[in-house]
Amino acid sequence: MAAPTKCKDKVLTDVTIEKPVLEPTGALSVETVLSVKHWNEHLFSFRITRPASFRFRSGEFIMIGLKGDNGKPLLRAYSIASPAWDEEIEFLSIKVQDGPLTSKLQKIEPGDQIYLGRKPTGTLVTDALLPGKRLFMLSTGTGLAPFLSLPRDPDVYEFYEQVVVVHSVRRVSDLAFREEMEGKWAEDPLVSEQAAGQFHYVPTVTREEFPNNERIDKLVESGKLFEGIPGAAKFDPETDRIMMCGSMEMIKQFAAFFEEQGFTEGSNAAPGQFVIERAFVG
Ligand SMILES: Cc1cc2nc3c(=O)[nH]c(=O)nc-3n(C[C@H](O)[C@H](O)[C@H](O)COP(=O)(O)OP(=O)(O)OC[C@H]3O[C@@H](n4cnc5c(N)ncnc54)[C@H](O)[C@@H]3O)c2cc1C
Ligand SMILES: NC(=O)c1ccc[n+]([C@@H]2O[C@H](COP(=O)([O-])OP(=O)(O)OC[C@H]3O[C@@H](n4cnc5c(N)ncnc54)[C@H](OP(=O)(O)O)[C@@H]3O)[C@@H](O)[C@H]2O)c1
Repeated sequence: MAAPTKCKDKVLTDVTIEKPVLEPTGALSVETVLSVKHWNEHLFSFRITRPASFRFRSGEFIMIGLKGDNGKPLLRAYSIASPAWDEEIEFLSIKVQDGPLTSKLQKIEPGDQIYLGRKPTGTLVTDALLPGKRLFMLSTGTGLAPFLSLPRDPDVYEFYEQVVVVHSVRRVSDLAFREEMEGKWAEDPLVSEQAAGQFHYVPTVTREEFPNNERIDKLVESGKLFEGIPGAAKFDPETDRIMMCGSMEMIKQFAAFFEEQGFTEGSNAAPGQFVIERAFVG
Protein backbone atom coordinates (compact mmCIF):
# COMPACT_ATOMS: atom_id res chain seq x y z
CA MET A 1 0.00 0.00 0.00
CA ALA A 2 1.31 3.46 -0.93
CA ALA A 3 2.16 5.98 1.78
CA PRO A 4 -0.52 8.58 2.51
CA THR A 5 -0.32 11.56 0.14
CA LYS A 6 -0.64 15.09 1.50
CA CYS A 7 -2.85 17.27 -0.64
CA LYS A 8 -4.06 20.75 0.33
CA ASP A 9 -3.77 20.19 4.06
CA LYS A 10 -5.82 17.00 3.96
CA VAL A 11 -4.06 13.67 4.40
CA LEU A 12 -5.48 11.29 1.82
CA THR A 13 -4.69 7.64 1.32
CA ASP A 14 -3.73 6.46 -2.18
CA VAL A 15 -5.36 9.54 -3.75
CA THR A 16 -3.74 12.48 -5.45
CA ILE A 17 -6.20 15.16 -6.50
CA GLU A 18 -4.80 16.64 -9.70
CA LYS A 19 -6.22 20.11 -10.35
CA PRO A 20 -6.01 20.98 -14.06
CA VAL A 21 -3.59 23.76 -14.96
CA LEU A 22 -5.36 26.63 -16.73
CA GLU A 23 -3.80 28.62 -19.58
CA PRO A 24 -4.70 32.28 -20.21
CA THR A 25 -6.21 33.18 -23.60
CA GLY A 26 -6.87 36.46 -25.41
CA ALA A 27 -10.25 36.70 -23.69
CA LEU A 28 -9.43 35.10 -20.33
CA SER A 29 -6.86 35.59 -17.61
CA VAL A 30 -6.08 32.91 -15.03
CA GLU A 31 -6.58 33.99 -11.43
CA THR A 32 -6.11 32.37 -8.02
CA VAL A 33 -8.86 31.66 -5.50
CA LEU A 34 -8.04 33.46 -2.23
CA SER A 35 -10.93 32.49 0.05
CA VAL A 36 -14.28 30.68 -0.03
CA LYS A 37 -17.32 31.01 2.25
CA HIS A 38 -20.22 28.54 2.14
CA TRP A 39 -23.48 30.18 3.32
CA ASN A 40 -25.58 27.00 2.97
CA GLU A 41 -25.96 24.01 0.64
CA HIS A 42 -27.19 26.29 -2.20
CA LEU A 43 -25.02 29.34 -1.84
CA PHE A 44 -21.36 30.33 -1.50
CA SER A 45 -19.10 33.32 -2.10
CA PHE A 46 -15.43 33.50 -2.95
CA ARG A 47 -12.64 35.99 -3.60
CA ILE A 48 -10.01 35.79 -6.31
CA THR A 49 -6.93 37.77 -7.34
CA ARG A 50 -7.49 40.84 -9.52
CA PRO A 51 -5.20 41.47 -12.47
CA ALA A 52 -3.63 44.96 -12.38
CA SER A 53 -5.10 45.74 -15.80
CA PHE A 54 -8.68 44.70 -14.89
CA ARG A 55 -11.04 47.69 -14.75
CA PHE A 56 -14.79 47.58 -14.19
CA ARG A 57 -17.67 49.73 -12.99
CA SER A 58 -19.37 48.68 -9.74
CA GLY A 59 -22.45 46.61 -10.70
CA GLU A 60 -21.01 45.02 -13.87
CA PHE A 61 -20.73 41.31 -14.69
CA ILE A 62 -17.97 39.20 -16.22
CA MET A 63 -17.45 35.65 -17.53
CA ILE A 64 -15.72 33.26 -15.13
CA GLY A 65 -15.10 29.53 -15.29
CA LEU A 66 -13.09 26.37 -15.00
CA LYS A 67 -11.71 23.84 -17.46
CA GLY A 68 -14.58 21.70 -18.80
CA ASP A 69 -14.49 17.94 -19.32
CA ASN A 70 -13.55 18.55 -22.98
CA GLY A 71 -10.52 20.57 -21.91
CA LYS A 72 -12.06 23.86 -23.07
CA PRO A 73 -13.04 26.73 -20.74
CA LEU A 74 -16.52 26.24 -19.26
CA LEU A 75 -17.74 29.78 -18.64
CA ARG A 76 -20.76 31.50 -17.10
CA ALA A 77 -21.73 35.12 -16.51
CA TYR A 78 -21.23 36.38 -12.94
CA SER A 79 -21.96 39.74 -11.38
CA ILE A 80 -18.95 41.14 -9.56
CA ALA A 81 -19.91 41.44 -5.89
CA SER A 82 -16.95 43.60 -4.84
CA PRO A 83 -16.65 47.32 -5.59
CA ALA A 84 -14.52 48.80 -8.37
CA TRP A 85 -11.79 49.99 -5.96
CA ASP A 86 -11.19 46.60 -4.29
CA GLU A 87 -7.81 44.90 -4.80
CA GLU A 88 -9.53 41.49 -4.96
CA ILE A 89 -12.63 40.36 -6.85
CA GLU A 90 -15.55 38.74 -5.03
CA PHE A 91 -18.43 36.63 -6.37
CA LEU A 92 -21.63 35.24 -4.86
CA SER A 93 -22.71 31.95 -6.39
CA ILE A 94 -25.57 29.51 -6.47
CA LYS A 95 -24.82 25.76 -6.27
CA VAL A 96 -26.94 24.05 -8.95
CA GLN A 97 -26.72 20.33 -8.20
CA ASP A 98 -26.29 19.20 -11.81
CA GLY A 99 -25.15 22.57 -13.14
CA PRO A 100 -22.27 22.14 -15.60
CA LEU A 101 -20.20 24.87 -13.93
CA THR A 102 -21.43 25.17 -10.34
CA SER A 103 -21.33 21.43 -9.62
CA LYS A 104 -17.52 21.88 -9.96
CA LEU A 105 -17.17 25.52 -8.90
CA GLN A 106 -18.69 24.82 -5.47
CA LYS A 107 -15.64 22.63 -4.71
CA ILE A 108 -13.00 25.34 -5.27
CA GLU A 109 -10.49 25.99 -2.50
CA PRO A 110 -7.93 28.70 -1.81
CA GLY A 111 -4.97 28.28 -4.17
CA ASP A 112 -7.07 26.87 -7.05
CA GLN A 113 -7.03 28.52 -10.47
CA ILE A 114 -10.05 30.08 -12.15
CA TYR A 115 -10.67 31.79 -15.49
CA LEU A 116 -11.66 35.47 -15.44
CA GLY A 117 -12.91 37.26 -18.56
CA ARG A 118 -11.19 40.44 -19.64
CA LYS A 119 -14.33 42.39 -20.65
CA PRO A 120 -16.76 43.34 -17.90
CA THR A 121 -20.11 44.77 -19.00
CA GLY A 122 -23.65 45.41 -17.76
CA THR A 123 -26.51 47.79 -17.19
CA LEU A 124 -26.66 47.80 -13.37
CA VAL A 125 -24.38 50.82 -13.27
CA THR A 126 -25.05 54.37 -12.14
CA ASP A 127 -24.13 55.55 -15.69
CA ALA A 128 -27.36 53.97 -16.96
CA LEU A 129 -29.52 55.95 -14.51
CA LEU A 130 -30.52 59.61 -14.48
CA PRO A 131 -29.64 61.57 -11.34
CA GLY A 132 -32.06 61.05 -8.44
CA LYS A 133 -32.44 61.16 -4.67
CA ARG A 134 -33.10 57.55 -3.66
CA LEU A 135 -31.52 54.46 -5.24
CA PHE A 136 -33.50 51.24 -4.69
CA MET A 137 -31.78 47.94 -5.57
CA LEU A 138 -34.36 45.13 -5.71
CA SER A 139 -32.99 41.58 -5.70
CA THR A 140 -33.99 37.95 -5.30
CA GLY A 141 -31.57 35.09 -4.51
CA THR A 142 -28.12 35.53 -6.06
CA GLY A 143 -29.44 38.66 -7.80
CA LEU A 144 -28.02 40.34 -4.70
CA ALA A 145 -24.47 40.08 -6.12
CA PRO A 146 -24.23 43.42 -7.98
CA PHE A 147 -25.90 45.08 -5.00
CA LEU A 148 -23.00 44.01 -2.82
CA SER A 149 -20.70 45.92 -5.16
CA LEU A 150 -22.57 49.22 -5.54
CA PRO A 151 -23.15 50.04 -1.83
CA ARG A 152 -19.46 49.46 -1.14
CA ASP A 153 -18.57 52.14 -3.72
CA PRO A 154 -18.21 55.64 -2.22
CA ASP A 155 -19.39 57.29 -5.48
CA VAL A 156 -22.87 55.83 -4.97
CA TYR A 157 -23.29 57.88 -1.78
CA GLU A 158 -22.29 61.03 -3.68
CA PHE A 159 -24.89 60.37 -6.39
CA TYR A 160 -27.80 59.39 -4.08
CA GLU A 161 -29.02 60.60 -0.70
CA GLN A 162 -30.52 57.21 0.21
CA VAL A 163 -29.11 53.85 -0.93
CA VAL A 164 -31.47 50.90 -0.37
CA VAL A 165 -30.78 47.18 -0.86
CA VAL A 166 -33.88 44.96 -0.86
CA HIS A 167 -33.15 41.20 -0.77
CA SER A 168 -35.86 38.54 -1.06
CA VAL A 169 -34.90 34.94 -0.32
CA ARG A 170 -36.59 31.68 0.58
CA ARG A 171 -34.68 30.92 3.78
CA VAL A 172 -32.92 32.91 6.48
CA SER A 173 -29.59 31.24 5.62
CA ASP A 174 -29.93 32.60 2.05
CA LEU A 175 -29.42 36.11 3.44
CA ALA A 176 -25.76 36.31 2.45
CA PHE A 177 -23.86 39.32 3.87
CA ARG A 178 -26.78 40.02 6.21
CA GLU A 179 -24.48 40.97 9.10
CA GLU A 180 -22.48 43.43 7.00
CA MET A 181 -25.62 45.08 5.67
CA GLU A 182 -27.45 45.16 9.01
CA GLY A 183 -24.31 46.82 10.37
CA LYS A 184 -24.42 49.35 7.48
CA TRP A 185 -20.96 48.31 6.27
CA ALA A 186 -19.43 49.54 9.57
CA GLU A 187 -16.22 47.55 8.93
CA ASP A 188 -15.76 48.94 5.43
CA PRO A 189 -12.92 51.49 5.39
CA LEU A 190 -14.26 53.49 2.45
CA VAL A 191 -18.03 53.73 2.92
CA SER A 192 -18.74 53.17 6.63
CA GLU A 193 -19.18 56.88 7.38
CA GLN A 194 -21.56 57.64 4.50
CA ALA A 195 -23.39 54.33 4.78
CA ALA A 196 -24.16 54.97 8.47
CA GLY A 197 -26.52 57.77 7.45
CA GLN A 198 -27.53 56.77 3.92
CA PHE A 199 -27.64 52.97 3.62
CA HIS A 200 -30.79 50.90 4.24
CA TYR A 201 -31.12 47.11 4.15
CA VAL A 202 -34.53 45.51 3.66
CA PRO A 203 -34.33 41.70 3.84
CA THR A 204 -37.39 39.51 3.37
CA VAL A 205 -37.63 35.73 3.85
CA THR A 206 -40.59 34.10 2.15
CA ARG A 207 -40.48 30.47 3.31
CA GLU A 208 -39.39 30.75 6.96
CA GLU A 209 -40.33 32.89 9.96
CA PHE A 210 -38.86 36.38 9.67
CA PRO A 211 -39.96 39.96 10.47
CA ASN A 212 -40.53 40.62 6.73
CA ASN A 213 -41.91 37.49 5.11
CA GLU A 214 -43.62 38.62 1.91
CA ARG A 215 -42.36 39.00 -1.66
CA ILE A 216 -41.05 42.44 -2.67
CA ASP A 217 -44.22 43.41 -4.58
CA LYS A 218 -46.31 42.90 -1.42
CA LEU A 219 -43.87 45.01 0.62
CA VAL A 220 -44.22 47.79 -1.94
CA GLU A 221 -48.02 47.52 -1.94
CA SER A 222 -48.28 47.75 1.86
CA GLY A 223 -45.60 50.46 2.09
CA LYS A 224 -43.55 48.27 4.47
CA LEU A 225 -40.57 48.42 2.13
CA PHE A 226 -40.23 52.17 2.76
CA GLU A 227 -40.27 52.04 6.57
CA GLY A 228 -37.35 54.04 7.99
CA ILE A 229 -36.35 55.44 4.59
CA PRO A 230 -36.70 59.24 4.25
CA GLY A 231 -39.20 60.29 1.55
CA ALA A 232 -42.58 59.02 0.36
CA ALA A 233 -43.83 55.48 1.09
CA LYS A 234 -44.17 54.83 -2.64
CA PHE A 235 -41.97 55.00 -5.73
CA ASP A 236 -41.77 58.37 -7.48
CA PRO A 237 -40.21 58.72 -10.97
CA GLU A 238 -39.05 62.27 -10.10
CA THR A 239 -36.81 61.23 -7.21
CA ASP A 240 -36.40 57.44 -7.23
CA ARG A 241 -34.06 55.32 -9.32
CA ILE A 242 -34.39 51.54 -9.42
CA MET A 243 -32.05 48.66 -10.21
CA MET A 244 -33.39 45.09 -10.37
CA CYS A 245 -31.60 41.75 -10.49
CA GLY A 246 -32.83 38.22 -9.89
CA SER A 247 -35.68 35.99 -10.97
CA MET A 248 -36.91 36.65 -14.51
CA GLU A 249 -40.54 36.67 -13.35
CA MET A 250 -39.86 39.25 -10.66
CA ILE A 251 -38.03 41.51 -13.10
CA LYS A 252 -40.75 41.23 -15.77
CA GLN A 253 -43.51 42.02 -13.29
CA PHE A 254 -41.66 44.97 -11.76
CA ALA A 255 -40.56 46.38 -15.15
CA ALA A 256 -44.26 46.47 -16.18
CA PHE A 257 -45.20 48.02 -12.82
CA PHE A 258 -42.56 50.75 -13.09
CA GLU A 259 -43.52 51.56 -16.68
CA GLU A 260 -47.13 51.98 -15.55
CA GLN A 261 -45.89 54.40 -12.88
CA GLY A 262 -44.16 56.53 -15.53
CA PHE A 263 -40.60 55.24 -15.13
CA THR A 264 -38.48 54.68 -18.27
CA GLU A 265 -35.91 51.90 -18.64
CA GLY A 266 -32.32 53.08 -18.88
CA SER A 267 -29.24 51.78 -20.69
CA ASN A 268 -25.61 52.82 -20.95
CA ALA A 269 -26.47 54.71 -24.17
CA ALA A 270 -29.65 56.34 -22.83
CA PRO A 271 -29.89 56.63 -19.03
CA GLY A 272 -33.36 56.24 -17.52
CA GLN A 273 -35.18 55.78 -14.24
CA PHE A 274 -34.82 52.00 -13.85
CA VAL A 275 -32.43 49.30 -15.07
CA ILE A 276 -32.58 45.51 -15.02
CA GLU A 277 -30.37 42.45 -15.32
CA ARG A 278 -31.52 38.90 -14.93
CA ALA A 279 -29.31 36.93 -12.57
CA PHE A 280 -29.75 33.70 -14.44
CA VAL A 281 -31.27 32.22 -17.57
CA GLY A 282 -34.38 30.19 -16.85
C1 LIG B 1 -25.79 38.60 -16.50
C2 LIG B 1 -25.75 37.39 -15.59
C3 LIG B 1 -25.18 37.50 -14.34
C4 LIG B 1 -25.16 36.39 -13.47
N1 LIG B 1 -24.62 36.53 -12.23
C5 LIG B 1 -24.63 35.48 -11.37
C6 LIG B 1 -24.11 35.61 -10.05
O1 LIG B 1 -23.61 36.66 -9.64
N2 LIG B 1 -24.19 34.53 -9.23
C7 LIG B 1 -24.72 33.34 -9.65
O2 LIG B 1 -24.77 32.39 -8.87
N3 LIG B 1 -25.19 33.19 -10.90
C8 LIG B 1 -25.14 34.22 -11.78
N4 LIG B 1 -25.61 34.05 -13.04
C9 LIG B 1 -25.99 32.69 -13.47
C10 LIG B 1 -24.72 31.95 -13.94
O3 LIG B 1 -24.31 32.50 -15.19
C11 LIG B 1 -24.93 30.42 -14.12
O4 LIG B 1 -26.16 30.15 -14.70
C12 LIG B 1 -24.83 29.71 -12.78
O5 LIG B 1 -23.51 29.83 -12.30
C13 LIG B 1 -25.12 28.21 -12.90
O6 LIG B 1 -24.22 27.65 -13.80
P1 LIG B 1 -24.27 26.10 -14.12
O7 LIG B 1 -23.40 25.84 -15.30
O8 LIG B 1 -23.97 25.32 -12.89
O9 LIG B 1 -25.80 25.82 -14.49
P2 LIG B 1 -26.64 26.44 -15.71
O10 LIG B 1 -26.76 25.40 -16.77
O11 LIG B 1 -26.05 27.76 -16.11
O12 LIG B 1 -28.03 26.68 -15.00
C14 LIG B 1 -28.91 25.60 -14.73
C15 LIG B 1 -30.22 26.14 -14.17
O13 LIG B 1 -30.02 26.54 -12.83
C16 LIG B 1 -30.80 27.69 -12.51
N5 LIG B 1 -29.88 28.78 -12.11
C17 LIG B 1 -28.70 29.10 -12.68
N6 LIG B 1 -28.13 30.14 -12.03
C18 LIG B 1 -28.98 30.47 -11.05
C19 LIG B 1 -28.94 31.47 -10.03
N7 LIG B 1 -27.90 32.31 -9.93
N8 LIG B 1 -29.96 31.54 -9.18
C20 LIG B 1 -30.99 30.68 -9.26
N9 LIG B 1 -31.10 29.71 -10.20
C21 LIG B 1 -30.09 29.61 -11.08
C22 LIG B 1 -31.56 28.04 -13.78
O14 LIG B 1 -32.84 27.45 -13.70
C23 LIG B 1 -30.76 27.40 -14.88
O15 LIG B 1 -31.51 27.08 -16.01
C24 LIG B 1 -25.66 35.15 -13.92
C25 LIG B 1 -26.23 35.04 -15.21
C26 LIG B 1 -26.29 36.13 -16.03
C27 LIG B 1 -26.91 35.99 -17.39
N1 LIG C 1 -32.91 28.80 -1.62
C1 LIG C 1 -33.21 27.56 -1.28
O1 LIG C 1 -33.36 27.25 -0.11
C2 LIG C 1 -33.41 26.48 -2.31
C3 LIG C 1 -33.91 25.25 -1.92
C4 LIG C 1 -34.08 24.25 -2.89
C5 LIG C 1 -33.72 24.49 -4.18
N2 LIG C 1 -33.23 25.69 -4.56
C6 LIG C 1 -32.87 25.89 -6.00
O2 LIG C 1 -32.29 27.14 -6.28
C7 LIG C 1 -33.03 27.81 -7.35
C8 LIG C 1 -33.06 29.26 -7.02
O3 LIG C 1 -33.65 29.42 -5.74
P1 LIG C 1 -33.58 30.80 -5.01
O4 LIG C 1 -34.16 30.59 -3.67
O5 LIG C 1 -32.21 31.37 -5.12
O6 LIG C 1 -34.48 31.75 -5.97
P2 LIG C 1 -36.05 31.93 -6.14
O7 LIG C 1 -36.80 30.67 -6.20
O8 LIG C 1 -36.18 32.86 -7.31
O9 LIG C 1 -36.50 32.70 -4.79
C9 LIG C 1 -35.83 33.82 -4.25
C10 LIG C 1 -36.84 34.81 -3.72
O10 LIG C 1 -37.51 35.44 -4.80
C11 LIG C 1 -38.92 35.39 -4.58
N3 LIG C 1 -39.60 35.39 -5.88
C12 LIG C 1 -39.61 34.39 -6.79
N4 LIG C 1 -40.34 34.78 -7.86
C13 LIG C 1 -40.81 36.03 -7.61
C14 LIG C 1 -41.64 36.95 -8.32
N5 LIG C 1 -42.13 36.65 -9.51
N6 LIG C 1 -41.91 38.14 -7.74
C15 LIG C 1 -41.41 38.46 -6.52
N7 LIG C 1 -40.65 37.63 -5.80
C16 LIG C 1 -40.33 36.43 -6.33
C17 LIG C 1 -39.10 34.11 -3.79
O11 LIG C 1 -40.34 34.12 -3.12
P3 LIG C 1 -41.20 32.74 -2.91
O12 LIG C 1 -40.53 31.98 -1.82
O13 LIG C 1 -42.56 33.27 -2.55
O14 LIG C 1 -41.17 32.00 -4.21
C18 LIG C 1 -37.91 34.18 -2.85
O15 LIG C 1 -38.18 35.04 -1.78
C19 LIG C 1 -34.40 27.20 -7.36
O16 LIG C 1 -34.96 27.25 -8.67
C20 LIG C 1 -34.11 25.80 -6.86
O17 LIG C 1 -33.77 24.98 -7.97
C21 LIG C 1 -33.08 26.70 -3.63
